[in-house]
Amino acid sequence: MPTIKINDVALSVTPGTLVLDACRRVGIDIPHYCYHPALTPVATCRMCLVEIKGQPKLATSCTTTVPLAPKDHPEAVVMEVFTNTPAVADARAGVMEFLLINHPLDCPICDQAGECKLQDYSYLYGSGDSRMAEVKRRYRYEDLGAKIVIDKNRCIHCTRCVRFTREISGGGELIVAQRGAHLEVTTYIGKSLDQNPFAGNVVDLCPVGALTNRDFRFRKRVWYLKSVPSISRHSALGSPIWIDHEGNEIHRFRPRPLEGKETTHFISDEERNAYSSYNRTGRAPAAMLKGAGASSESIREALQAAGSLAVIGQGTFGCDAAQRLGELASSADLRYGSGGKTFAVVLPKYQTSADGILNRRGFMDRGFRFGALEELLGKVQKGEVKAVVLLHDAAFTSAKENELLGQILKVAAFSLAMEVEPSDLGRMATAWLPITNLAEESDFIVNHDGDLRRYQKALQPPKGVRTVPAWVKELSAVPVHA
Ligand code: SF4
Ligand code: FES
Repeated sequence: MPTIKINDVALSVTPGTLVLDACRRVGIDIPHYCYHPALTPVATCRMCLVEIKGQPKLATSCTTTVPLAPKDHPEAVVMEVFTNTPAVADARAGVMEFLLINHPLDCPICDQAGECKLQDYSYLYGSGDSRMAEVKRRYRYEDLGAKIVIDKNRCIHCTRCVRFTREISGGGELIVAQRGAHLEVTTYIGKSLDQNPFAGNVVDLCPVGALTNRDFRFRKRVWYLKSVPSISRHSALGSPIWIDHEGNEIHRFRPRPLEGKETTHFISDEERNAYSSYNRTGRAPAAMLKGAGASSESIREALQAAGSLAVIGQGTFGCDAAQRLGELASSADLRYGSGGKTFAVVLPKYQTSADGILNRRGFMDRGFRFGALEELLGKVQKGEVKAVVLLHDAAFTSAKENELLGQILKVAAFSLAMEVEPSDLGRMATAWLPITNLAEESDFIVNHDGDLRRYQKALQPPKGVRTVPAWVKELSAVPVHA
């Protein structure tokens, strides 16, 4: 592998590596706006300039690649890069001054404040002065449909959003119109981002707060939010996300890109908007037995007295929940998997599976058999299985499966449903227990690509609501199969 030197530090890198990425590997963060690892580089912002020995002008590190080494000397130093020279500092200050020429000083009301690259780089690399004496160019806010609002005054024309709609989501709704000082990002006449199921990503991509999400706009200053690593249940792959929350309330979901995993840079609007479903409103539901409020002890006694027990676990829950639930079954062959939701595949490169049961693998690894509920119905009808414990979320069950589960619960001598909120199916069960939702627990899944993804607790569950492992521990306080 060829060697390059960055500020005199030698590093072996694969030929073709971007200088910007090579710098990152030695801990040097090169400021950039237009560069994004999932988009074609265009080198328009000029913020990533570096000095390369032997080259007369500064070079954009987001488009300059490490060359091949000579065949007779494969480990030769092929490039010497400097990121800390006066020429580089001058260039950065100059670029910042240009970018800020028309940018308003509206940070106190801008949603991006606190996570704005223009703020950060201005502080780190800007000159602190502006020679702009002319009146700034002004635009009014513009709706790009019902989901996204653009403030063109803030735009620095990095074109990340435009490239996203062309290269990733494919609709090409956004364009760069006009020329020179009148350059503006807009939609084609009559087009909006409403039909784009991945539209929310343009807001994450925008480094300066020109594109804002109507749902989050003016709702929260970001420095009040705490970010907890989690996953999305509303995709087949359990997309890694950040849960941004404050005061036991979630305010937004954002993608949480994983190093080297390009598919983790973006999430769909369905995943993004699902955050509100994890905020509880009203009183938390309480444990029930035969339609009336009950203590967990009475449910435990009833379950233990019922006889041979089968468990049905929906593969949208975590592996720890699956493990503990499986331990309740009277025998290993009485663990059944459920869940029938599928997702429409709009972007095959990013949605490599349509199976909405994101932890199917994790459940199968723990002995849960999917597609065998009719077998269980037969066993319940014959009286071979007396009790059934169902771990369930109605949003991920198909109509056919719902009917089958209903029949099982009807015939079983005793049934217990564990859900976040009682569903019609849950109400049919003899007993019901309230469980934590994804944001209220820590666990992990193994997705369809075989990737293990952990998620952490962000919210405090209400009193009386417990995780599946905690309920199973309670239900097994005295051996179930005594
Ligand atoms: S709106 Fe944002 S992402 Fe789009 S070009 Fe302007 S600054 Fe870049
Ligand atoms: S990041 Fe290299 S020119 Fe914009």
